[in-house]
Amino acid sequence: MTTIPAETSVFEALESEVRSYCRGWPTVFDRAQGSRMYDEDGHVYLDFFAGAGSLNYGHNNAVLKRALLDYLERDGVVHGLDMSTTAKRAFLETFRDLVLVPRGLDHKVMFTGPTGANAVEAALKLARKVKGRETVVSFTNAFHGMSLGALAVTGNAFKRAGAGIPLVHSTPMPFDNYFDGKVEDFLWFERLLGDRGSGLGRPAAVIVETVQGEGGINVARPEWLRALAELCRRWDMLLIVDDIQMGCGRTGAFFSFEEAGIVPDIVT
Ligand SMILES: Cc1ncc(COP(=O)(O)O)c(C=O)c1O
Repeated sequence: MTTIPAETSVFEALESEVRSYCRGWPTVFDRAQGSRMYDEDGHVYLDFFAGAGSLNYGHNNAVLKRALLDYLERDGVVHGLDMSTTAKRAFLETFRDLVLVPRGLDHKVMFTGPTGANAVEAALKLARKVKGRETVVSFTNAFHGMSLGALAVTGNAFKRAGAGIPLVHSTPMPFDNYFDGKVEDFLWFERLLGDRGSGLGRPAAVIVETVQGEGGINVARPEWLRALAELCRRWDMLLIVDDIQMGCGRTGAFFSFEEAGIVPDIVT
């Protein structure tokens, strides 16, 4: 039996080498409230990271915390898979009334697993199933998650290399590029769609971030997004907007694509 030296931290001793953020921030956090985090020695940190951008309401927001505590206090169902529950009904009704109806959207809600990658995997599967085709077009610098299907549409060589197997059934195209100054943004894409020998075939879908988050905060122009939506319509490809990083009000409107005035087939 190996003995662990007393001075070695339990993280070093027991946690896998597959670690990321904790390597950059060598302290042990204890509490978090609003925009601040506190370590176990009482140091306070202003949290610019905000859960990789996911904590738009801050840590332990008082309104959300109260609702959560009340729910647990009354033994609300915590593990329900996709069973019908009063909580799910309340969520769907509120989402319909506050988000869908005011925007004239008739989309349905699919309850996937809890991560962004789960939602992306579900979107890819659904698009392939509906269209009966395999290829999904993605964009340079895109990030859609670390699971295999999501990595296949991610444009980051380092992250893709982590898969350890070929990532297939996806084709990258250039993301909107301001500096290129051309109007024929989709010339190359459309040329391949029209050329039966190109190997692209007819993709099932296109997946895009309106503002690329992990890929460097690259903002797609509204006119580029409109042209993309139009291309998808003309070539019968579903348009998936991955709003995991930019949705829920982070760009201003509830959905990041509202400014462009497009209506994606699937929104994660
Ligand atoms: C656009 C986008 N899609 C998907 C994901 C994956 O989300 P998760 O890390 O919750 O799986 C991310 C995460 O940063 C993301 O930025």
